[in-house]
Amino acid sequence: MIRILTLETTCDETAAAVVTDSLEVLGSVVASQGAFHEKFGGVVPEIASRAHLEQILPVIEETIRKSGITLQDIDAVSVANRPGLAGALLVGLSAAKALSLALEKPLIAVNHLQGHIYACRVAAAQNNETKTEKIFPCLGLIVSGGHTSLYRCPGPLGFELLGTTMDDAAGEAFDKVASMLGLPYPGGPMIQKAAEKGNPKSYNFPRSMLDDHERLDFSFSGLKTAVRYKIVGPGKTDFSQVSLSEQEVADLAASFQEAAVDILIGKTLQAVEKTGLKTLCIGGGVAANTRFREKMEAAAQKHGIRLHIAPISLCTDNAVMGAIAVERYKAGLFEPLDIDVYPS
Ligand code: KG4
Ligand code: ZN
Repeated sequence: MIRILTLETTCDETAAAVVTDSLEVLGSVVASQGAFHEKFGGVVPEIASRAHLEQILPVIEETIRKSGITLQDIDAVSVANRPGLAGALLVGLSAAKALSLALEKPLIAVNHLQGHIYACRVAAAQNNETKTEKIFPCLGLIVSGGHTSLYRCPGPLGFELLGTTMDDAAGEAFDKVASMLGLPYPGGPMIQKAAEKGNPKSYNFPRSMLDDHERLDFSFSGLKTAVRYKIVGPGKTDFSQVSLSEQEVADLAASFQEAAVDILIGKTLQAVEKTGLKTLCIGGGVAANTRFREKMEAAAQKHGIRLHIAPISLCTDNAVMGAIAVERYKAGLFEPLDIDVYPS
């Protein structure tokens, strides 16, 4: 059995896991920094780096303990070294390099976004679907706080970008609209909760880019601006005088969520049509959204798409998705110790 220690420090979660070559997860720990960033309404890069620095060693120790092994039992050390916040990435990469050197085990570097898609492969393995062919080739959709992108994925090591957001990422739009509604960070789960009591038809917000069948790109800034105009008035930016009732917040949240979900699903269906790929794998924090999951599942059924959405626990950042390192291990793709981080 091959055991790989995977590290994840791309944004605001410090995470580690031990995964095997059969994609069994022996142990996984995620230390969230949400509380540190909440009062700033978003992730503060310098705070993220410092928190990673404080948490990375305890998180690794706890992961090894939970896995019932010792560090010497590890066959390789892997880390997400792209994309993400430079300082945050450096903490994970430095820890991985130090362990690789000290344990004399190979170093593997993975792409965080590809990991979000690979979370679907790990989940399939947990459901006893042992064959990689059940997942790949596929169309990959990543909907996170930093990215909203569609990929053609011929196999677990090949990703070709088909389209991406031209402005905000979907999660970023959720976070910014939540802040406009006076809801705390991270905004996605808060919008979802507020929306439960709201009417999604209260406001007909724009579904940008859906008329453009040529490009597979996304746009959320028009939607975000439309929500802002509804709250403070056209052309205005001052929220200091705003006082919304609970029902108004719920209706705005539900109507925004519905539009954001429609944009994501509409563009993804266009990509299915364009590529002919009938297997769809979705990962990233926004894929945890209940309304998105419901509507995507219904759309997949209607269009005969084999849908894999990462389980909710593997949607937001974690180190289990770093199990994509298993594919690189099997292919002998190891890194020299002078490898760098690639923030964007
Ligand atoms: O993938 P992730 O954990 O981190 C990045 O790589 O960015 O995604 C975080 C994003 C945040 O913007 C958060 O608000 C959003 O995912 N998110 C949600 C939900 N849970 C997390 N958005 C909508 N609905 C949710 N339930
Ligand atoms: Zn992520």
